[in-house]
Amino acid sequence: MTPVVMIAGDGIGPEVMAATRQVLHAAGARIDWIEAYAGLGAVERFGDPLPRETLDLIRKHRVALKGPCTTPVGKGFRSINVRLRQELQLFASVRPAKSLPGLQLPYDHVDLVVIRENTEGLYAGLEHVVIPGVIESLRIVTRSAADRIVRHAFELARVQGRARVTLCHKAEVLPLSDGLFRDTGRQVADDYPFISFQEMHIDRLCLELAMDPTRFDVLVMENLFGDVISDLCAGLVGGLGLVPGANIGGRHAVFEAVHGSAPDIAGKGLANPIALIRSAAMMLEHIGQRTAAGTIENAVRRTLHDPNNRTGDLGGKLGTAAITEKIIENLE
Ligand code: NAI
Ligand code: MG
Repeated sequence: MTPVVMIAGDGIGPEVMAATRQVLHAAGARIDWIEAYAGLGAVERFGDPLPRETLDLIRKHRVALKGPCTTPVGKGFRSINVRLRQELQLFASVRPAKSLPGLQLPYDHVDLVVIRENTEGLYAGLEHVVIPGVIESLRIVTRSAADRIVRHAFELARVQGRARVTLCHKAEVLPLSDGLFRDTGRQVADDYPFISFQEMHIDRLCLELAMDPTRFDVLVMENLFGDVISDLCAGLVGGLGLVPGANIGGRHAVFEAVHGSAPDIAGKGLANPIALIRSAAMMLEHIGQRTAAGTIENAVRRTLHDPNNRTGDLGGKLGTAAITEKIIENLE
């Protein structure tokens, strides 16, 4: 049994987490769940949406599976997710977008991975009032963080047998910060002559993703660009209900779906659990339980193959419990 910290989160979080645990159990995953709190529930218990107890548990056990968390707005709390990524130095956000069977979408063969720098850029959290009515937000780019994120992208390409890394930037407009990001990326690319390297402006990337996303393989970019592009890529393969994600650091890893707490459908049993289930499959792979991970991914694909197996976000009628049951039936 491997201990894994489990944070159910807010909104639809507890619903999709319960579904995910059922699927993992049925797939034979050997996990000892350690419950921890973050989000609104943690404010009630600990007075902090990201309590030290939770950070300490992840530091101890190294791996966590997390549901979406709502950051209380206007109460002086910084984004929980941004804080979590910075505190644990989870520098790489890894978000695969891969076409699934049976969905009527403009593209069938999308298979790309967005690698987002997770600790700095505009999300460094350095904002201040210059004078009333004028705010300054600092966009931090360091050579060390650029080097480690681009290296992470090349390593992922190498390990997964992917052919190309595309570095996205806007160095013409931001010659210092994005110039440093791009130039550092070029140096890292030199270490990987066996993987093809491409540079692209972020606006050009948006155009090309809309026209033909099947051209892309691994994409690497700074924090804000990555936040936006990963949601866009989720849309290309069926939406937020389906795409998984991981936040990886040198010592810790936190797995979570790309979507948020979806307050509009929370508590109604309507949420699609697939995004968190697939995030959990990535977590299983990370801890070496590859057989269970593969079984779960195959079961999701087999389930979606049948057009009757659709939750509301995909235009269907099934609720969280019903789609979970179908996925469990399809485990082999
Ligand atoms: P959201 O992802 O929660 O919702 C956007 C839309 O997608 C909504 O219509 C929602 O119903 C739908 N949706 C999302 N996940 C779904 C699922 N699994 N099944 C079916 N439909 C789904 O984004 P929004 O509304 O911008 O944010 C809501 C809250 O979530 C905010 O408090 C935000 O801060 C938080 N959030 C937390 C994240 C995290 O913990 N990693 C990430 C993004 C947002
Ligand atoms: Mg986002």
